[in-house]
Amino acid sequence: MEGEKSRELWEKALTLFPGGVNSPVRAAVKPYPFYVKSGEGPYLYTVDGERLVDYVMAYGPLMLGHKHPKVLEAVREQLERGWLYGTPTELEVRLAEKILKYYHPDGMIRFVNSGTEATMTAIRLARGVTGKKYVIKFDGCYHGAHDSVLVGAGSAAAEYGVPMSKGVPEEVAKLTLIARYNDLDSVEKLLRKHKEEVAAIIVEPVIGNAGVILPEKGLLHGLRKLASEHNVILILDEVITGFRLALGGAQEYYGVKADITTLGKIIGGGFPIGAVVADKKVMEHLTPSGKVFNAGTFNAHPVSMAAGLATIEVLETGEPYRVAREAAKKIVEALDEAASRHGFDYTINHVESMFQIFFVKGEVVRPEDARKSDRKLYTRLHEELLRDKVFIAPSQMEAWFTSGAHTIEAVDETVQAIEEAFKRLREQ
Ligand SMILES: Cc1ncc(COP(=O)(O)O)c(C=O)c1O
Repeated sequence: MEGEKSRELWEKALTLFPGGVNSPVRAAVKPYPFYVKSGEGPYLYTVDGERLVDYVMAYGPLMLGHKHPKVLEAVREQLERGWLYGTPTELEVRLAEKILKYYHPDGMIRFVNSGTEATMTAIRLARGVTGKKYVIKFDGCYHGAHDSVLVGAGSAAAEYGVPMSKGVPEEVAKLTLIARYNDLDSVEKLLRKHKEEVAAIIVEPVIGNAGVILPEKGLLHGLRKLASEHNVILILDEVITGFRLALGGAQEYYGVKADITTLGKIIGGGFPIGAVVADKKVMEHLTPSGKVFNAGTFNAHPVSMAAGLATIEVLETGEPYRVAREAAKKIVEALDEAASRHGFDYTINHVESMFQIFFVKGEVVRPEDARKSDRKLYTRLHEELLRDKVFIAPSQMEAWFTSGAHTIEAVDETVQAIEEAFKRLREQ
């Protein structure tokens, strides 16, 4: 999709930012990214006057869609009172209580500014609590952009061929042990080999960074059991799944319990946020009560607190989940119908309001299966849909997200666009 204003901005951006962008996946929209002027409900409006139905939803945070009136009102009210004080606010107490209720009712929370900071702090905390050094991570899972987790990483790291980022010293990388998702044996082997030296297992309970990949029956409970048996901290990274699969995230949805939960995205209602949640005896190791350091000028930012609180209050009505689930179901049905009628090899992984299609024979059970899919064909699907003003992630290694704002009209437009897109894909 081309537009004069977007092209001009892109040409300038190429001289200002490495690769033209401030986060790599944004450069995957070709021939150049469209520049956004505003967003409302399920729609994005570009500087070139286009209206797009949005299934990227800022890569997950916008569970209520763009510019939800309740969130807007809460943010406006906060702005009227100033926006940063360097000292606590009532809002952080209220948001903490709300989140803890669903994740660790007797626990504690530390607010940070991104999912990256949340997993970085969680891993440091696990090492500090256990006095051990290794972390088990799964190939293709993405936990943000810090050194310990940029080994075998998914999302943009996989898309741009840097699952092991340059600049991460070998000495640091070798402290991250890589297991296979949906393969408990691979975890057990690592635990045995590095007996008494593993601090934590970190996992996306549903992978949202290698497309969407679901845990097979027994995976999460198996990890829980292995972690307990080996005295290892289980970190469930719910930066995507938290408040998306359910109010209590994947833990509620699959009935499993983390030792440390990391959250982000939805809990800030579209403003920067991250959080580490665990039992008191774990959390009290963080500064200032303990000796594991964490701090941040912007931690518990009042605007993020206000937006997060308003978002969760709306989610608690249940209605956004119903709408998002229904929208996802209709779109998955449309993809299924069109891909099968036009004779493609494909599979769709779907849970609640997140899903992805892979052009591949057989199932996608692990990121390695996702990497074998026809990613060029996926990119063409993204391009064809964009031609018809539907925006899906430009990378196979991301997810489609629906929200509480995906109305029947928006979904119907999308279903139509899907049918046309597959027709063109077949003709080409
Ligand atoms: C599961 C998961 N963990 C952590 C992160 C990092 O979050 P952020 O981009 O807010 O740093 C992401 C980002 O997509 C994620 O999907």
